Amino acid sequence: MVSAQILASNPSLDERVEKLLSQMTLEEKAGQMTNIGLMAIAKGDFWMKRDTVELDTVKMRDLLLLHHVGSVQNLGTYPFSRQEWRKNIDAIQNLVMQESRLKIPVLYGIDAVHGANYTEGSVLLPHQLALAATWNPALANKAGEITSYEIRASGIPLNFSPVLDVCKQPQWGRIFETFGEDTYLTSEFGAAMIQGMQGENISNEYRSAVCLKHFIGYGLPASGKDRTPVYMPEHLLRQICLPPFRKAIELGVSSVMINSGSVNGMPCHADKYLITDILKGELGFEGFVISDWEDVTNLISNHQIAKDEREAVKLAVNAGIDVCMEPYDASFATHLIDLVKSNEVSIERVNDAVRRVLKVKFKLGLFEQQQTDASKYPKFGSDEFVQASLETAHEALTLLKNDNNILPLGKNKKVLITGVAANSLNYLNGGWSRTWRGVDTSFNDTGKKTIYEAFADKIGKENLTYFDGTTYNEDVNTAQTALAASQADYIVVCLGEVPATEKPSDIEDLTFPQAQLDLVKALAKSGKPIILILLEARPRIFTEIEALASAVLMAYLPGNEGGRAIANVVFGDVNPSGKLPITYPRYTGSIWTYDHTKAEERDVNFGYNAFNPLYEFGFGLSYTSFKYSNLTFEKDTINFNDDIHISVDVKNIGDRSGKEVVQLYSADIVASLVPTVKQLRRFKKIELQPGESRKVHFTLNHTDLSFVNQQNQSVTEEGDFKFMIGNLSKTIYFKK
Ligand code: BGC
Repeated sequence: MVSAQILASNPSLDERVEKLLSQMTLEEKAGQMTNIGLMAIAKGDFWMKRDTVELDTVKMRDLLLLHHVGSVQNLGTYPFSRQEWRKNIDAIQNLVMQESRLKIPVLYGIDAVHGANYTEGSVLLPHQLALAATWNPALANKAGEITSYEIRASGIPLNFSPVLDVCKQPQWGRIFETFGEDTYLTSEFGAAMIQGMQGENISNEYRSAVCLKHFIGYGLPASGKDRTPVYMPEHLLRQICLPPFRKAIELGVSSVMINSGSVNGMPCHADKYLITDILKGELGFEGFVISDWEDVTNLISNHQIAKDEREAVKLAVNAGIDVCMEPYDASFATHLIDLVKSNEVSIERVNDAVRRVLKVKFKLGLFEQQQTDASKYPKFGSDEFVQASLETAHEALTLLKNDNNILPLGKNKKVLITGVAANSLNYLNGGWSRTWRGVDTSFNDTGKKTIYEAFADKIGKENLTYFDGTTYNEDVNTAQTALAASQADYIVVCLGEVPATEKPSDIEDLTFPQAQLDLVKALAKSGKPIILILLEARPRIFTEIEALASAVLMAYLPGNEGGRAIANVVFGDVNPSGKLPITYPRYTGSIWTYDHTKAEERDVNFGYNAFNPLYEFGFGLSYTSFKYSNLTFEKDTINFNDDIHISVDVKNIGDRSGKEVVQLYSADIVASLVPTVKQLRRFKKIELQPGESRKVHFTLNHTDLSFVNQQNQSVTEEGDFKFMIGNLSKTIYFKK
C-alpha cells in the first residue's frame, strides 16, 4: 500500500518520485530499468507463430514479481483486437498492483508508427515520409492525435514514435519511417506530430507518451544498410541530426530510443558523450533513455566492444541508458545488481534512471489508473479518422511528371492497370502494418480498396483490365499484359516495393527490380500513354523507363486509404499538392541531397552542372499553375538582432483551385566552413482558387541563418545571403 499512501498526501511530482524511490530495494530499481517483450511472459517459445496469446503465470511471476520488471512492449505474430490488448495489459497490471510490494504499475510500449498499426480495426495512416510530402504539419498533428487515441483505446500509453532521424541515404530501408532528408522539415513535422500525440497533458486518456528515435545519426548509414556505422564530424552531426531532437525535447517528451549503430567508431549505446553529455546535459532531456531491441547485448555480438553481457550492461548504463530493451529475459537486471554491488555502476546512476522512469509513470497517471474504460473510445476506427487518413494521403501524393497534361484521366476511357502494387493493400501500407514486416495478406483489413478496386469504383469494371504483370522481382504475365495494352486508352503501371523494415529492408541495388522495368518496356511498345504510380519505401531508381512514361505519381506508402486517394487524383477529383521531402536520384552513382555543396556540382567539363537528380527535393506538380512575384524584403541590409521580414505574392493562374507549398530557401554566399548551396528555412501550404492571389509572409532571425562551425558552435556570419522562393531570388546583406 505504499504508493497509495504517497498518493493520499498529493505531494508534487518530484516528492512522489523521491518518496517512492527511497523505499525501493536495488532489485526493485533494476527491475524498473528492465524492459521485456510480451512474448517473454507468454506460453510457448518467444518467436513461436501463434493464433492467440496465452500469458504464462509462472513466467509472469518470475519476471514481473521476482525480477520486478517495470516495462513491457510489443506483441506476437498477429495483430491484437482492442479487447485482447486490454486483457493482456490488465492481467499484467493486476498481478503487479495486487501482489508486488510497492505496486508500481507497468509501462506498456508499442510501435504505432502509422496509426495504431498493431490493433485490429485501427486506422492505418500514411507512413511518416508521406506525411512529410504533404508539407502540411497540421496533418501530422492530426495523425499524432489519432494514433494516441487508438493506442489508448487498446490500453497502451507509450508509443515508440516518431522517428526523428534525418535520412540522407536513400538506400536505407527505413527512410519511409522518417520525415525525409531535411533537418528543418523533420523538426517541424516532428513537433507537430508530437503535439498531436501528447496534447496538453499525457495523463489525458486520449493522449500518449512518445519515444523519439533513434538517437542519433541512425538515418545516415554509410553502407546504406540498417544498423551500420555512421561516420560524420560532430559539427555536421549537430547541424543535421540534432535540431529535430532538440525541438522535440523542448516539448517535454517522455522517452528517447538510441540508435542501434555506431557513430564515428563508438556504438551509440555505449556513448556517454552522446547520451549523458549531449542528450541529457546539453539538450536537458528529463525523460528516460531506452535501448533499442537487444542493443545492449549487441555491444558484444555486433559491435565487439564488450566481451560479455556483464560488461555490455556496465558500458550501456554508465553511458546513460536508463531502460534496457532486452526482450527475452531479465538477465540485464541480474548483471546490473551485481555491477552496483561491486561499485562498477554507481547507485546514483541507477537512482537517476529510476527517477526518470517513475516520473513518466506518474505523469501518465498510471498510479491512479491502470485499466482502460473501453466505452470511452467511440471514435476508434471512425469515419472521422478514416477521412483524416484519406485527406493526408491526398495531400501526400506527389505528381512528378505530367506530359501534355495527360492526367487527370477521363472517366469514360478504357484503362489497363497492372504492376505488383496495383491490387495489394500490403504494398500501400508497407512495413509495420498489422505485423512487423507487413507482408502477411491474411491480416489485411476487409473493405479497404486496392488501387485496382478504387479505379473500378471510379470508372466501372467494364472499363478496366487488370493483370498483375510481375511479382516484386519476377515476371508473371508480362507478355499477356502487353497484349491487352492494345485494347486500352491508357496504361497505369503500379511499381512497388515489397513491404519490409529494419534488416529485412536492406537491398543491394536502389534500382527497381528488372522484371518491373521490363514490364513497362513491353507495354510501351503499344504506343499507349503510360502512367507510373510508385509505391515505395525509398526512392527506387527507374531512370531507364522514365522517358516511356507520360506521367509519374509518387505515392510513397500512403496507407489503407491510399488506393482511394490515388484514384481520386488520377481521375481528377482531387488536385495533387504533395512535394518531395527527398531528392529523387537519377543514377545509383549520384546519390546526394538538395543541400549539397557547390563543389559537388562541378562536372567533367569543369562547369557546375553535375547535380542532376531525376526530381528535386520540394518538387511536385499540380493540375493548376502558380505564379510567384514581388519577392520583397523590408530592408536590404539586416542588422544582427533585427528580424528578417520577407513577403511574396502567389497567384493561381490556372483554371482550378489548388494547394501550393511556398518554400523559402537561403544560401550563405561566403562562409568560413563550406556552405550548402541552399537550405530550407520556412514553408507554408496555401490553397488558392483560380485567379486568386495571396501575399505570403515569412519572418526569420539570425539563428535561422546559422551553421555549426568546427568548434561545434552555432554561428551566424556577416555577409551576403541569397534568398529563394519559387523562381525568384534576392540577395541581402546580413550585418553583425
Ligand atoms: C526498432 C525500433 C523499435 C523497436 C521495438 C527495434 O528493432 O529498431 O524502431 O521501436 O524494435 O519494437
